[in-house]
Amino acid sequence: MALKNIREEEFTEQLYSVISPSQPITSIELLSGRTREMQRVKRALIVPGKSVFIHGERGVGKSSLASTAAQIYQSSDKPYIDVSCQSDTTILSLVSNIAMQATNQYKFEGIVKKINASVNLRFFKTGVEKTISRSSIQKQLSTIGDAIELLKEISLIYSEKTVCVVDEIEKITDEVELEKLADLIKGLGDKKVSIKFIFTAVGQTLESILGANASTIRQLETIHLPRLSWDARWDIAINALHKFDVEIKEEIYIRLAAVSDGFPHYVHLITDKLLWILFDKETVVHEVTWDDYSHALDATIECIEADLARPYIKAVEHRADAYEEVLWSTSIVEWQGADLSSMYSEYENILNQRPNSTKLTYEQFCTRIRNLKQEKYGKILKQGRQPGHYMYEEKILRGYVRMQAEANNVEILNESQEAEIKQYITVSSRKTGYFGSKPPKDWDSNKAINPIVLSAAPKGNFRRDKVIKRKE
Ligand SMILES: Nc1ncnc2c1ncn2[C@@H]1O[C@H](COP(=O)(O)OP(=O)(O)O)[C@@H](O)[C@H]1O
Ligand SMILES: [Mg+2]
Repeated sequence: MALKNIREEEFTEQLYSVISPSQPITSIELLSGRTREMQRVKRALIVPGKSVFIHGERGVGKSSLASTAAQIYQSSDKPYIDVSCQSDTTILSLVSNIAMQATNQYKFEGIVKKINASVNLRFFKTGVEKTISRSSIQKQLSTIGDAIELLKEISLIYSEKTVCVVDEIEKITDEVELEKLADLIKGLGDKKVSIKFIFTAVGQTLESILGANASTIRQLETIHLPRLSWDARWDIAINALHKFDVEIKEEIYIRLAAVSDGFPHYVHLITDKLLWILFDKETVVHEVTWDDYSHALDATIECIEADLARPYIKAVEHRADAYEEVLWSTSIVEWQGADLSSMYSEYENILNQRPNSTKLTYEQFCTRIRNLKQEKYGKILKQGRQPGHYMYEEKILRGYVRMQAEANNVEILNESQEAEIKQYITVSSRKTGYFGSKPPKDWDSNKAINPIVLSAAPKGNFRRDKVIKRKE
């Protein structure tokens, strides 16, 4: 009860009204740093025949952007439709899922939308059936033409303005199905179906998701979602803490933003843990200390979902400590990749901070890095785009690796990040993407720069203050 003297029930309610570690955001007030992307989605949704396609790394916030936009565009008479894809999803099963969800919400007694008496519905026979069964839909649904007709009927009866979010379409990998998806999207435009679709997919490029069909689809507004900008990351934490009258020092929130690596998921997790730590204190607190942050980081690492942590654990489990140090050195790998020699120089930087460790030779180091491509070492890295370069198989893992390094009192240096920060401090407008952030207040570019934490983080202090040593 050490936050504003509130009870646990009230605390939990308030906490999860601002922090959402496990579910996409659906409200514009909580969607941090996506103003520009949101505007693009909104503008696309008002263009007749246009749909939206959001792609990017796992955990970057695609579903959140899609859900929030859907919430805004969908008319208030019905909720927006929300379907997800699985590996066995076909386009026809997808459309029948949409129809099922629409009919679950559809009550003939309260039809909101006036249907012109002359409209002859094939799938929805008004007044006869109250609901429509999956098997009856599937029986009538055999071509993409049928699917378009069914969606058109839904658009007529469901709500004033209907939005449908189709999440994770990268799970559909069958060539034939992808071609059908392209035909469906084109057909929706041609037949003037007024349902607005927002698709999301994990992937760096449209081609990697839709294959050859990507170029044939002109009806899509394609938005590549980058990692969250620095200020958008720390805004999430600051705003949540303010709700409980707690301040956080600039040095700490910058560190939190850095270690999250631009993945809002991690910011939510750390802030969640932080607030629980403050809540459990005996006296009312109004400021976060380094110890609190440090404890929160450890608690976060412990609770990270198994699927996110698994590759890391696989790589270091039953292996010498040296593996963990090698692994931390990979956290300088940028999205485009990094070569062995820059990783080795990062490794040397790490070893300087760990005087008791035995340093690997360059050759030993390279062998270990190459091993990290194998399944039994967690398949953490893959071949980069340039020869001799390596990149992360799953980008979100880099944030986890950084958290582990930080929890072990290791600071990561990173040349390319220094370049990022240079851009970051010259762009004046806020919230315009990854680099488009204002510099921290009192920014002093002459101060010694530790790129991962920007200049303001107290390089020495932090380590001195740290109480938790995960490994002795
Ligand atoms: N712009 C944002 N502002 C605040 N939190 C966000 C934002 N985008 C995503 N999140 C949070 O990050 C986590 C992952 O977001 P999600 O939309 O599920 O990512 P994706 O669909 O790309 O995997 C969720 O917990 C969500 O609450
Ligand atoms: Mg998602």
